[in-house]
Amino acid sequence: MDPTDGTTTLANSNTCIKEEPMDISDPPVINQKVDVALLKGTMTGKKILSKERPDDNARHLASTLTLEEQISLLAGSDFWRTVAIPSRGIPSIKTTDGPNGARGAFFKNGTPAALFPAGVSLASTWNLELMYEVGQHLAAETRARGADVLLGPTVCLHRSPLGGRNFESFSEDPYLTGKVATAYIQGLQKGGVGATIKHYAVNEQETWRMTVNCAVAERPLRELYLRPFEMAVRDAKPWAIMSSYNQINGTHGDMNDHTLREILRNEWKFDGCVMSDWTGTNSVAESIQVGCDLEMPGPTKWRGERVLRAVESGQLSREAVERSAGNVLYLIERVCRGKTDMTEPPERSDDVPERRELIRRAGAQGLTLLKNEGVLPIAADKKIALIGPNAKRAIVHGGGSASVKPYYTTTPFDGLQAQVGSELLYARGCDTNKWLPLVSDANLTTPDGVAGVIVEFYHGDMFKGSPAFVHHKSQTDLFLWDSAPMEVLPAYSFKVKAKLTPVTTGYHTFGFMTVGPGRFFINGELFIDNWDWTEEGEAMFDGSIDVIKSVHLEAGVTIDILVESTNEVRPMAKKSFSGRTHQYGGCRIGFQEEFKADLIAEAVEVAQQADVAIVCVGLDDEWESEGYDRSTMDLPKDGSQDRLISAVVKANPNTIVVNQSGTPVTMPWADEVPAIIQAWYQGQEAGNALADVLLGYANPSGKLPTTFPKRLADNPAYHNWPGENEQVVYGEGMYMGYRHYDRTGIEPLFSFGHGLSYTTFSYGEPTISSKKLSDAPPSNSLTVSVPITNTGSVAGAEVVQAYVHDPKSRIPRPEKELRAFARVELAPGETKWVHMALDKYAVGYYDTSLGAWIAEEGQFDVLIAASSADIRSKISFAVPESFTWIA
Ligand code: BGC
Repeated sequence: MDPTDGTTTLANSNTCIKEEPMDISDPPVINQKVDVALLKGTMTGKKILSKERPDDNARHLASTLTLEEQISLLAGSDFWRTVAIPSRGIPSIKTTDGPNGARGAFFKNGTPAALFPAGVSLASTWNLELMYEVGQHLAAETRARGADVLLGPTVCLHRSPLGGRNFESFSEDPYLTGKVATAYIQGLQKGGVGATIKHYAVNEQETWRMTVNCAVAERPLRELYLRPFEMAVRDAKPWAIMSSYNQINGTHGDMNDHTLREILRNEWKFDGCVMSDWTGTNSVAESIQVGCDLEMPGPTKWRGERVLRAVESGQLSREAVERSAGNVLYLIERVCRGKTDMTEPPERSDDVPERRELIRRAGAQGLTLLKNEGVLPIAADKKIALIGPNAKRAIVHGGGSASVKPYYTTTPFDGLQAQVGSELLYARGCDTNKWLPLVSDANLTTPDGVAGVIVEFYHGDMFKGSPAFVHHKSQTDLFLWDSAPMEVLPAYSFKVKAKLTPVTTGYHTFGFMTVGPGRFFINGELFIDNWDWTEEGEAMFDGSIDVIKSVHLEAGVTIDILVESTNEVRPMAKKSFSGRTHQYGGCRIGFQEEFKADLIAEAVEVAQQADVAIVCVGLDDEWESEGYDRSTMDLPKDGSQDRLISAVVKANPNTIVVNQSGTPVTMPWADEVPAIIQAWYQGQEAGNALADVLLGYANPSGKLPTTFPKRLADNPAYHNWPGENEQVVYGEGMYMGYRHYDRTGIEPLFSFGHGLSYTTFSYGEPTISSKKLSDAPPSNSLTVSVPITNTGSVAGAEVVQAYVHDPKSRIPRPEKELRAFARVELAPGETKWVHMALDKYAVGYYDTSLGAWIAEEGQFDVLIAASSADIRSKISFAVPESFTWIA
């Protein structure tokens, strides 16, 4: 019975009930059996005889389209696809997030996909061959989702440890980021899939992400924040780039003349397609004029008719429209190469053993051993206690658009249990949920008794008549961004219906958040009224806070749950503030039964019975996510994980802490425990990769791509984070990451580039191929070589780092900057030479007085290092005469 209208709600004839994974509207299969003119180098029968540039074909085709046709190409057709013009042989292509998997057309509950380690974990490997391999597999995954363009990699820098999306990007260092991104893009595009390097530019925080103005000086802009993009554009030629939401020195990323036209197009000669971030187009004429070619998602909000009028009124040039249409066509052409049929295939899974193996290997290589006083690896005969909130949870990715529905997941407990003979001891130790666990994790069924809930969609915002669509959903994180049926947009209402049977009697707690207005009923009675919410929370991009309320329930007594919500914009204040709507709608329903156990006491008891205790702590996709930043560097929640670790190590001195997070966390117990592994987010093989390293089947070789400070207050952005009144000043200038710690002498907890192994390495004397570097061949590049020996008894890999120090410069420069690195695998006793190339980019800085890069005449030192704080030797060379360049 529907308590609000007193009628039994039945599906009408229009209603479709689908079981997951078909619970989502099937992606439209676009019939594109068109004569793909682009692919054949022909246009209306005419062959282009001499092609001087690779994009000539696309540009020629653009020039033959009508203005209306050109304009139609400048915005998506739907959430993920471009517009097709079948009469002109132009197919639609499909994009998908990105970056550590190819999710497909649905944000939640989509087609199962391979989940790779998060960007920060990939960067911790410093392994460029591996990155290339990951790119190739991501290409296959993207194709399996029926898509042509992957929305990744993310290359924004780790400016503050609190950055909500740091996990998704690679490093605090632009050079490491640029190298990793380049290899990733090369692998991906080799597979025929376009990369979309993002978010261009200066997108280092999530707070006010759509509106914040990031004030950054020209030199750090060039030398730090644009550097990874510049390197990738030069060396990997990404087919697409995504502009950022934020403003850069007063202008949004999609309409920023300086970053888009002057630098990207004019200086770097980028020949690909610029697309806006999703709903991140902010103007009609300006964004096209400076070169933001494609508004995403579609259907258009800013283009179409409005662009036509802008051209007619002279606000926007026809050339700009044609140029952007040509850029979109060039992207389409690139992803279509080799295809004979442009019919979009349905999404499928492609869970193959080679990919599983790669993800496990990449995971193990990213694991970073921060400390080890003889406890690791764990011998096979030891009795192990696995403790902690993350021990039996699959913490595999951060939150937001980087998440996918993985083929499978592995937990630390399962991974370890599969490889050790004896039974593991286990204790949860504490809880860390930011929001209550989903009610779908409890004993929840649809009214018909199937696990999960029913979502009924109604046309309009009044729940009128019968539902137009009924979907089944297995879980209650009902973010309907791209999974509400297109047919009910723009205004719809929905009901969620389910039955819940508690396992225990007690005061049980529900959590309820909605994107639009919402109400929550239990047994027909209004339980939580969130209809006129005013306080914004963090989940679901602009949704309400989580409203928490407890109620006494009896074990085994089933209750009816009903949610009513709409995508109507409320409160009005919100609409006027951001000018956006809740078009996507949605709600999240959480639930937790009352419990009174002393979890830490249980953990201590278990630790005492074991030879070795492993405590799995950290963050998860609720604490670390797109959409918001962290508010503290401390482990959640309220110190419980820190208390747990201290209690366990007192009970068992052989305690290993495994921390899963994409960013540094404060470790007040770092001196108390003998071993710490930084485990990042490792994707679907997280548990197995961790077990491989804990047991010594894989020797850790990861090194930190980001500094771990002792305290939040030590980090360089501390005084300028996240800013105020939607303004943030990048006040630390050039001194970001280790550049800041070097300059201030503040000792971090673990330095950039630090990571231990189960073996040891010695560094021999370096040599240099030339003592001079100039801008003309053959002396425009030199090679530093150093012999590395594995002095231990097991095989291992070492990441050798080369930092350049400029002893004398006209303007202040960081103490040293990473300019080359090499990873070398060595058998016990083996020695290999590693070779690292340096060129003008290794010595240059951006001189704002010249508006150019300059390599200043003088001596430069190359510091050969095992980490930014562990310099092993030095070798020098000279630039005999200053020289400058633009790109
Ligand atoms: C994110 C992008 C993502 C896009 C599509 C945006 O909110 O910032 O990184 O690719 O959504 O999901």
